[in-house]
Amino acid sequence: MAGVVISSTTDEHARRVRFIRGFWINELKESNMAGREQECKQTDADKGIVIPDDWPGYPLDLFSFPEHYSEDLECVYIPHGVIMDRTERLARNIMDDLGDHDIVVLCVLKGGYQFCADLVDCIKVLCRNSNKTLPMRVDFIRLKSYLNDQSTQVLHIEGAENLSALSGKNVLIVEAIVDTGKTMKTLLDHVEAFRPKMIKVAGLLVKQVPSGTGYLPDYVGFEIPNRFVVGYALDYNEYFRDLNHICVISDRGKQKYKI
Ligand code: HPA
Ligand code: MG
Repeated sequence: MAGVVISSTTDEHARRVRFIRGFWINELKESNMAGREQECKQTDADKGIVIPDDWPGYPLDLFSFPEHYSEDLECVYIPHGVIMDRTERLARNIMDDLGDHDIVVLCVLKGGYQFCADLVDCIKVLCRNSNKTLPMRVDFIRLKSYLNDQSTQVLHIEGAENLSALSGKNVLIVEAIVDTGKTMKTLLDHVEAFRPKMIKVAGLLVKQVPSGTGYLPDYVGFEIPNRFVVGYALDYNEYFRDLNHICVISDRGKQKYKI
């Protein structure tokens, strides 16, 4: 695959944000409808399940996980079963909104592969058991911007040459984690250039980071504090994708797999 390298821009989507009862609320949520803007208020449901800053996670010995990571994790942050249950509900919300449309699911690799596979499976089950149907094509794009646990300024997009197939289509971008929102903004700009009819974004995790733009996907699994998490296909230098739960990496794990 020929790769294109796109430098992430520092200009962020203009937003008015105000602080209400402990929650940051975007008064103007930037619309993902290509070429149009819509006013909408964020509700708590838009943020998904909110994991508080002081959430310690579960002790590792209450769960099973690969022995080779026994020294490398601090806690189980979101157990696999909870991820699956939340994904099932997101699939229902997507069916309610998009059912009876044709969609192209654009899976953001590598971290999004597990969430995308499970979300597509849940949608398939719902299609079998309801009157609504959601014909899906699945396509893939690869983004890379992290080294160790730090975001680099350069965003690599691979697979961009196939995106002309998105023209005139309803696109559902499926991403494992959104932190600053800058990567997603760059990706949305890139996808919009191919003139899809509609773009929606499903993000399993939204991480609260100080440099965040306040961007929220249309469908959010969990909002998490600013901790580096691994598992369920999320990696640290390519390790931990073979872990079912979402866990917090330990200092020892960071040292062991550092590049
Ligand atoms: N884990 C893995 N990949 C990531 C993270 C994270 O916490 N944040 C952004 N990319
Ligand atoms: Mg990664």
